[in-house]
Amino acid sequence: MLKLPAEPDRAAPQASTGSAGVDHDAGDALLARVSVVIDELLEAEAAHWGAVDARVAVPVEAVRDMVRAGGKRLRPAFCVSGYLAAGGTADSERTDTVVAAAAALELLHVFALIHDDIMDNSDTRRGTPTVHAKHAARHAERGWAGEHRRFGEGIGILAGDLALSYANRLAGGLSGPALRIWNDLVTEVIIGQQLDIALAAELKADPALSRWVAVCKSGRYTIHRPLSLGAAIAGRPGLQGAFEEYGVAAGEAFQLRDDLLDAFGDGVATGKPAGLDLVEHKMTLLLALAATQDERVARLVEDGRSGGWDPAELRDALSASGVRREVEEQIDQLVATACAALDDAPLAGDWHKRLVRMAEQVAYRDR
Ligand code: IPE
Ligand code: IPE
Ligand code: MG
Ligand code: MG
Ligand code: MG
Repeated sequence: MLKLPAEPDRAAPQASTGSAGVDHDAGDALLARVSVVIDELLEAEAAHWGAVDARVAVPVEAVRDMVRAGGKRLRPAFCVSGYLAAGGTADSERTDTVVAAAAALELLHVFALIHDDIMDNSDTRRGTPTVHAKHAARHAERGWAGEHRRFGEGIGILAGDLALSYANRLAGGLSGPALRIWNDLVTEVIIGQQLDIALAAELKADPALSRWVAVCKSGRYTIHRPLSLGAAIAGRPGLQGAFEEYGVAAGEAFQLRDDLLDAFGDGVATGKPAGLDLVEHKMTLLLALAATQDERVARLVEDGRSGGWDPAELRDALSASGVRREVEEQIDQLVATACAALDDAPLAGDWHKRLVRMAEQVAYRDR
């Protein structure tokens, strides 16, 4: 779990952040409540459906396994941060709402991950087998009728759908601007994923489109919208502009890092297969930039149109092209943009400093 960054001198006694009257542990306390809400919901669902028949509890267990496998819990962290940074108080009705919304965001994320792993043909997530891979293997082991892969993907589709329905259930108490933000972010992640697979199918190397995908499929629902949702629940519409600027920039930096980790990172640390984006011809900014600037990469992408896609050679060419440094510079600029967006924002307590630190953490992570 990504802990909310502590104050530099957290050991020093601190009674409150000031105007909001919220103490410095409020974020961690809210995140702990988010975990309880998710665990209780899944526990109740597993017990309910397990009592009907072990088979019908399978997708519930799949969602629960994914939650238990860990993850950084970024979306709840940004939601709770948005709430506190906007001066959200410890009043019980609003904290119940923000806790439920943050839990909804994590379950929406689980939905997106389970379906993404089918779309991307990925076998590993959070260091464990993906839902569809696990159930395809089980189908094979038990000698069941039909196609292993289709069975596994069927369970992945259902488990993802279930996670989305739980997310919507948890978001059911939202209203007004917060509900509109929720509806937007659910749609955005799906639309972003659509362009991601379309560009991969067309081998369309267009840096502007790649950046749009990074923001729409990932940056918005990971950072921008969770922050805005938190602020909306706190009743502070005035922060939406600053949070959008910060969230879109930090969100894009988060996804560009994800793309770099896929290409050059360590699969043990990320818990995901390394090099999968190239195998799946994902038109990440990295590849799109290289294809528009480097002749060898451009030729290898063209070869893909006639069935000659060669991920190993592409990786070599990508490394030699120097675009890795360019994407790193892009990330630096995005972090600077994100941080500058907060300069004049009237944030509670030391939230300016904390959100700067969070932008750096998501942009310069290794997992
Ligand atoms: C992975 O998100 C999917 C993307 C949007 C890139 P995270 O990197 O937040 O994954 P977990 O939640 O920590 O597993
Ligand atoms: C997927 O992006 C974003 C969503 C889950 C919506 P990626 O396909 O790059 O995510 P990972 O790398 O599989 O986590
Ligand atoms: Mg993926
Ligand atoms: Mg994907
Ligand atoms: Mg990725």
